[in-house]
This record gives sequence, structure tokens and C-alpha cells, in this order.
Amino acid sequence: MADPASRVIVAIDRMTRTDAHADVARLGKRVSCLKLGLEFFVANGPQGVRAVAGPSPLFLDLKLHDIPNTVAGGVRSACSLNPKFLTIHASGGEAMMRAAAEAAKAAGSSRPNLLAITVLTSLDDGDLAAVGQSTPMRDQARRLAALAKKSGLDGVVCSAHELGALRAECGPDFLLVTPGIRPSWTAAQDQKRATTPAEAVRQGADYLVIGRPITQADDPAAALDRIAAEIQAG
Ligand code: C5P
Repeated sequence: MADPASRVIVAIDRMTRTDAHADVARLGKRVSCLKLGLEFFVANGPQGVRAVAGPSPLFLDLKLHDIPNTVAGGVRSACSLNPKFLTIHASGGEAMMRAAAEAAKAAGSSRPNLLAITVLTSLDDGDLAAVGQSTPMRDQARRLAALAKKSGLDGVVCSAHELGALRAECGPDFLLVTPGIRPSWTAAQDQKRATTPAEAVRQGADYLVIGRPITQADDPAAALDRIAAEIQAG
């Protein structure tokens, strides 16, 4: 990737159009991709997404999970927003992921990259056991990533700590997209095991999802430049 800033997906974690617009306006033209998630989508719908994302590439973080036919319909509907990335839950199973991949193909050259969510990082082994899942979390994440690849998905969202194992498991062409990133010059906030942008890229991340270190900076465009420089310097 020529421009290291193009690896950065800026998370706009806002519920209102006004707040989201303000974040995007402060970024100026520098932004390469914007992430809008469920809270924004439920509150503002496709029109709100269109209005805020404008011409910027879009990471639509809807984490779809339902029967194959319904998820395929969700993917088709989402394609009208022309997202560059769209998320679905790998735990929906192979048939669901295959149906999603088929639906995405229908969008032709503007097909979104379908990314799988493996195990939510809010869950620990105890939470998995409580829902009848006895495989340790790390193994489960690896297993679901392999299943996502087999089912025709383009990549996964994963923590920086899983990058090495998932790159080895899924090969060089599978996209690894990593949140929980903190440049050395910002506070960790609620990210407990944050990784720097350069370290995540060294570990094999293709894209980094970064929110507050950019959106809450005094100068968000300058923060993005600084992160890009940090990645470039390795
Ligand atoms: O502001 P911050 O950089 O922490 O934002 C990170 C973004 O990545 C948020 O949208 C958050 O919901 C998302 N995310 C995360 N950790 C995960 C999965 C997603 O921080 N494990």
C-alpha cells in the first residue's frame, strides 16, 4: 500500500448525524475510509450513512448474523450504500457466510469486502462456556477465521494479538483488520491491551481501525498524518 494513511479506517462512533458530520468535517480530505456502525445505522438509516460518508470509502460495521437467506438479503440491501467493507458474524456458520459472499458478488466490481467477526473481544472463556462453547477463545477465533476463508469471505476483524496466528492460518491474501490501536503519543482510554499502529502493521495487519486518537485530537487531520508517518517509519 503506497500511502500508509490508506491503511487507516477512522471509526466515527457517533449516534447523531450532526456529531458524525462534525467529526468528518474536522478530518478534511485526508480520510481514506470511515467506519459507521450499528448505533449510527439504527438511528439514521441508509440516508444518514450516505449523508455522512459522502464519497469516502465506507466500512459498514453491521455485524450481520441471521439465517442465510436473511443475511444474504441484508448484504444485498447494504450494497446499495456501496461499502468497501461490510461485517458479518462468522458464528452464523458456513452456509450463512456463503450466502453472504454470493449476495456480495452480485454487486460486481463494487462488491464489498466481507469481513468476519470471530469471537467478540468482550467475551472471555467463561462467557463462551456459559453459552455451551468449550473451545478456548483463541482456538475458536482461529477456527472461525479458517471457516470464514473457506466460505469465501475476504478477511476478519481481529485483535493485534491474533495477527501472527491468523496470518499463518489464513495466508497472505486474507484481509486482517485490527482495532485496539493506540499511537505511542495518546492515552489508552478503555483499550486494555492497545498496540501501536507500526507494531500492528509489522505483525501483519492490512488495515487499522482507529477512532478517538484521531477524532478527539485537537487536529484530527494532523493526527492521521502522524499515524501514517509512524507506520511509514516502521
Ligand atoms: O476509539 P477507538 O480507537 O478505541 O475505537 C475503536 C473502534 O473499533 C470502535 O469503533 C470500537 O467499537 C471498535 N472495536 C474495538 N475493539 C474490538 C472490536 C471493535 O475497539 N475488539
